[in-house]
Amino acid sequence: MAIQTDVLVVGAGPAGLTLSALLATYGVDAVTVSRHSGTANSPRAHITNQRTVEVFRDLGIEDRIRELATPNSYMTNNVWATSFAGQEIARLQTWGTGVERKADYEAASPSSMCNAPQHLLEPAILAAASDRGADIRFSTELVSIAQDDDGVTAVVRHRDTGAEETIRARYAVGADGARSTVAEQLGFAMEGETGLGSALNIWLEADLTKYCAHRPGVLYWMAQPGNDFWVGSGTWINVKPFTEWVLLCMYDPAEGEPDLDEESLIARARMTIGDPDIEVRIKAVSKWQINHMVAQSYQQGRVFLAGDAAHRHPPANGLGSNTSVQDSFNLAWKLAMVVKGEAGEGLLDTYTAERQPVGRRVVDRALKSVQDMAPISQALGFAPGQSSEDGWASLKELFASSAESARRREQLAAAVQLQNYQFNAHGMDLGQRYASVAVIEDGTAWPQTGRDPDLYHQASTRPGASIPHAWLQRGTETISTLDVVGKGRFTLVTGLDDQAWREAAAAVSAELGVELAVAQIGVRGDNDDVLGTWSGLREIADDGCLLVRPDRFIAWRQKSATLQPAAALKAALSAALGR
Ligand code: FDA
Repeated sequence: MAIQTDVLVVGAGPAGLTLSALLATYGVDAVTVSRHSGTANSPRAHITNQRTVEVFRDLGIEDRIRELATPNSYMTNNVWATSFAGQEIARLQTWGTGVERKADYEAASPSSMCNAPQHLLEPAILAAASDRGADIRFSTELVSIAQDDDGVTAVVRHRDTGAEETIRARYAVGADGARSTVAEQLGFAMEGETGLGSALNIWLEADLTKYCAHRPGVLYWMAQPGNDFWVGSGTWINVKPFTEWVLLCMYDPAEGEPDLDEESLIARARMTIGDPDIEVRIKAVSKWQINHMVAQSYQQGRVFLAGDAAHRHPPANGLGSNTSVQDSFNLAWKLAMVVKGEAGEGLLDTYTAERQPVGRRVVDRALKSVQDMAPISQALGFAPGQSSEDGWASLKELFASSAESARRREQLAAAVQLQNYQFNAHGMDLGQRYASVAVIEDGTAWPQTGRDPDLYHQASTRPGASIPHAWLQRGTETISTLDVVGKGRFTLVTGLDDQAWREAAAAVSAELGVELAVAQIGVRGDNDDVLGTWSGLREIADDGCLLVRPDRFIAWRQKSATLQPAAALKAALSAALGR
C-alpha cells in the first residue's frame, strides 16, 4: 500500500525543513524524506540575512535562532591579513555594522542579521516542524520519481533496512540540494556552468581570541605572498567566537587532490594562524564544488524545485541557505491554499515567475563577487607564479612612505570598497520584487532613488514589494508592521478611515471562503503608528488599503477609497489566489 499525502518534500536541509515547518503550521498533510540520517553534520552556510530571520519570525522561532547564533555586533570586521599573528592588510566593516550603513539595516527590518551555522540552525527549524506535527523521515532516500495528470509517485528506500516504499502525493518539492535527484530524473533544464572551483572545508577548534577580540568578525581572509588563490591562502569562517572555525581553502584538482590527513590539515591551519603555540583540533573535513547554475523553470507540472536544487552558486554574499529558506516561504502558502481548495492551481505557476528571477540574480551576483576579489590580489602586487620573496617585497613596498606606495594603497582601498557588493549588499538581501499574476499591477513605477539597487534597499508598498517595516505600538507592546501580517493568511492593511474596507473584507472573505484578516495601522489606530514612520512609508491615504499575502508581499494596493470596495477587493483577492 502506497503512503498517500498531499505534498511530498524531498530533502531536509534549510529549504526542506522550512517548507515542512510552514506546511505543518498551515495544516497541510505532507511527508518529508531525507537521505541523511539527520540534520547537517557540519557548519556549511552561516550568514543569515534579515529576510530569512523574518521568515523565522513568522514561524515564531526568531528568539530561538538568536540564542544559537552569533549576533550582528560580532559580524563587524572583514579582515585581510597575511596570518592571524601577521600583518593586517585591510579591513572592512560588514553586514550593515559600519556607521554609514547601520541605519539602513535597522530601518529596513525588525530582525537583525546573524551568523547561524547550518548545523545549529537546522535542528531549530526541525524542532519547530516537529512541534507542529510535521512528518519527517530521515535515512529515507528518494530512488525514483514520476508524475501523471493526477499526482506524483515516488519510490523511497529506507537506508537502514534497504526496504522500499511508494509514496503517492498530489504535489512534490525537490529540496534535495545541489545534486538533486528530482531535478535530474524529471529533466529540469539548468542554465550555467559547474565545477568552477573546488573547495575544502576544514572544521576545527583553535582559540584565536587574542587575535580576534579587538576586531571581531565572521571572515578573516589570509593572503600569503606567493599565493594567488582568489580567497588567498585560506578563509577563516567564524563558527563560535573565537574558538571554533571553518577554514575554507580552494584547490585545483589538476594539481592533485589535497592531503586530508590530520597532520597536514593542522599544518595548513597553522600556516595562516602564524603562531605555533596555538593548539588546533580538527573536527571534520569535507569537499565541495563551486557552481553557477539556475533552473530555467522551478516547476514541471506537479513538481517544484526549492533551494540548491534550483540554484547553485559560490558562497560569496552568503545567499545559499537564505535564498533556500525564502523559496520555501514563497511556495508553502501557495501549496497550502491550492491543496485546501482556496486557490486555483494557476497560483502555483507564480512560484517560478517570482522566484526564478531571484535565483538568477543571486547566482550572477555571487559569481561576480568572486571575480571582484581579484583586484585585491592585484593591489597587493601578487601574481601567479610569483616567489614568496617577491610577494613579501611587494607587500613591504605597499606600506612604505613613497608616492608610488600611496598610489598603490589607494588602489587597495578601492578594491576593498568594491567588496561592499559582497558584504554590504543590502539590496541583494532585501530587494526581491515580484511580478506575476498573483501581483496586481497598479500602473505606478517603482521608486527611483538613484542608488545602486544591489547595495541599497528601497522600501515600497508598490504591489510586488515586501511590506516595509515600521515599529508600531499595541497597548504597551512594540511590534513591527511585519507582525500584523503573514502567518499563513492574507491581511488587508488599512488606515484610520477603514469602515468600508472592514465591511468589504468580511463580505469578500465569506464569499470566497478564505480567511482575510484586517489590520488597521495609523496614528492612535489599533496598531499605533507612534513614531509616524508607517505614515511616511505607506504611500496610501487613511482611506486606502494594501492587500498583503501570507509571505508578506503586497498583492494589491488601493491608494484611497473607491466607490465599490467589496467588488474591487474581491477582484484583487481572486486574482491573487489564481481564481
Ligand atoms: P541542502 O543541500 O542543505 O539539503 C539537501 C537535502 O536533501 C538533505 O537533507 C539531503 O539529505 C537531501 N537529499 C539529497 N538527495 C536526496 C535523495 N535522493 N533522497 C532524499 N533526500 C535527499 N554555503 C555557504 O554559503 N557557505 C559555505 O561555506 C558552504 N559550505 C558548504 C559545504 C558543504 C559540504 C555543502 C554540502 C554545502 C555548503 N554550502 C555552503 C551550501 C549551503 O549549505 C547550501 O546553500 C544550503 O544547504 C542549501 O540548502 P538546501 O536545503 O537547498 O539543500
